[in-house]
Amino acid sequence: MKTDPNPARSDHRPSSEELNPYLAELNALRDWKKRLTLALQLAKSIAAQTTIDSLLNELVSATQKLLLADRATVFLVDQKNGELWSKVAAGTQTIRIPISAGIAGSVATTGELISIPDAYSDSRFNQEVDKKTGYRTHSILAAPMKENQGKVLGVFQALNRLNEDGTVRSGGFDHLDAELMQLLAGQASVAVENALLYDQLRLATEDTIYRLAAAAEFKDKDTSEHLHRMARYSEILARKLEMPEDWIAMLKLAAPMHDIGKIGVPDAVLNKPGKLDAAEWKEMKQHPIYGGEILKNPSADALILSETIALYHHEWWNGKGYPYGLKGEEIPLEARIVAVADAFDALTSKRVYKPPFSLEKALTILEEEKGTHFDPAIVDAMQDIIPEIKEILF
Ligand code: C2E
Ligand code: SIN
Ligand code: FE
Repeated sequence: MKTDPNPARSDHRPSSEELNPYLAELNALRDWKKRLTLALQLAKSIAAQTTIDSLLNELVSATQKLLLADRATVFLVDQKNGELWSKVAAGTQTIRIPISAGIAGSVATTGELISIPDAYSDSRFNQEVDKKTGYRTHSILAAPMKENQGKVLGVFQALNRLNEDGTVRSGGFDHLDAELMQLLAGQASVAVENALLYDQLRLATEDTIYRLAAAAEFKDKDTSEHLHRMARYSEILARKLEMPEDWIAMLKLAAPMHDIGKIGVPDAVLNKPGKLDAAEWKEMKQHPIYGGEILKNPSADALILSETIALYHHEWWNGKGYPYGLKGEEIPLEARIVAVADAFDALTSKRVYKPPFSLEKALTILEEEKGTHFDPAIVDAMQDIIPEIKEILF
């Protein structure tokens, strides 16, 4: 049994002054726990990003939230060009700076964290940046993001540490902020490497698809411009129809391959300046079947829509199309969308057999064929996206 060696102590009631340090420590621990919980949540949404654009966006908002920073930038190292690059917001232009410039640059080159409580009294800070942007930088925290081997992949930079009430904190970022930033940067590096790899793969796939599809169009004396335009129309139509983004991405990848089967149609038919006779039409109507054959059973999920698009893009809503005479919703949605996008681009373009029609005339023809040739809902959606269409067309 234990005995109290100092029984007098048990009578002692700690004063609030004696308790204060403990309370302060407890509060600090609570705050730390809150921020660690947030860090774990953010790590999850970071890991879910598969494009570098959406990832950068997540990382910037994670940095702001986690470090209570007024602004944040995440730079990536471009070794080949000796630059750091970033985006101000998703979808906006890329900003590029020399790899050795400024605070971010010295973090990138030394691999060391930099914390500056008062930027204007630190010679490393270049006040010109503020003069240009009209922003007033007080504190800066910048940490390297490193891959496994220690190579610097990028730089996290946070500006102006805020208090809970949103005012700028005078002491700047503290050592816990610095630790959190390093934790975040560590979590992010794997996601960044993956997203860069994904982007490369996507680029390679897209490049291959457009080259293949252009081979068929080459015979058809068309340009790859047509493919890009009709893929964009298909994308915007699908978004207007509120399809999920991953489906839209697959549609955009598959759409340019819709006419790949024309590779099997004789040149004399494809390039005939005037109307096709019955025998020639018969040949031409084979192209969806050839295309379906070429794109049969795609092994990659990303290409899953290409076979149905090639097969069914000339089916009509009323069942009078080819090659199978499918009707209404028997025709897969992706093919109904591409039918409208493809016809619209054919109408507004010059073909060996027709001059280009005006936007108005093309839209009138779509309206005339609404419900017979085309899915009415998709022609309606087309009317709703005219401003976007004009941007692609002109
Ligand atoms: P394409 O030139 O890419 O045309 C795709 C689709 O756009 C056509 O499918 C049709 O639905 C629509 N379209 C194009 N021009 C017009 C037009 O002047 N009026 C109307 N109302 N719709 C138009 P379609 O008709 O099944 O034709 C498939 C492909 O057959 C065409 O692809 C083209 O390569 C070829 N083709 C069609 N008509 C002729 C023709 O008169 N002469 C020649 N040489 N080829 C033709
Ligand atoms: C710098 O790294 O010197 C620029 C800081 C800023 O973005 O204002
Ligand atoms: Fe076609």
